[in-house]
Amino acid sequence: MGCYKIDVFLNQFLNLIFMQFFIDTANLDHIREAAELGILDGVTTNPSLMAKEGISGQDAIMKHYRDICDIVGPGKDVSAEVISTDFKGMVEEGKRLAELHENIVVKVPMIKDGVKAIAHFTDIDIRTNCTLVFSAGQAILAAKAGATYLSPFIGRVDDITWDGISLIKEISEIYIMQGYQTAILAASIRTPLHIVQSAKAGADVVTCPLSAITGLLKHPLTDIGLANFLADHKKANG
Ligand code: E4P
Repeated sequence: MGCYKIDVFLNQFLNLIFMQFFIDTANLDHIREAAELGILDGVTTNPSLMAKEGISGQDAIMKHYRDICDIVGPGKDVSAEVISTDFKGMVEEGKRLAELHENIVVKVPMIKDGVKAIAHFTDIDIRTNCTLVFSAGQAILAAKAGATYLSPFIGRVDDITWDGISLIKEISEIYIMQGYQTAILAASIRTPLHIVQSAKAGADVVTCPLSAITGLLKHPLTDIGLANFLADHKKANG
């Protein structure tokens, strides 16, 4: 337990400095692969991602969240989304999720009762991720309510030919100017370029599919350079 607390403390300290990498999936193999890469800081899920993995029924959903928490280990936040859309339902569901595991962050949609629920969770020290955010105004409300994370969906903004990265920049400027403590979690990331642009725009966290994370590795000059090094070594050493 002592080690768990130290890990959590270190992770929270590092969160203040470096951009964090979360994986956006409920697929356990993808989560394991990203964790094994040694760069994973957390996981985000949503009801669509859970359904995609065929996880249904309350018991199976709760078990799946616990399995994800066990894979990523201490101090790595795992967002679990409420299904209720009324204040009372969100609070009951959120408390059940938060009790599941220390890693759980309750994901709440940016609606009127959602803001009310986030403010309530802030008062009782339950961490939250405000999801489905598409404007700076929504970002201000969520920060005022004390959300731990704010999830602007940059890919979905791009999908309607607006500029998702500009939204991250705008929110980042406001949060710095106002001193809001809510972390900007750039969500709905589709490509490695989104990750690089989010880092430049001031995101505190990126949550991405495994393909976008591994896509960061790729460069043809790396592959050519490595092939040449190995060929030269073979020539010289037989
Ligand atoms: C994560 O928190 C979001 O639910 C997710 O990134 C949405 O991504 P999508 O727009 O690719 O569905």
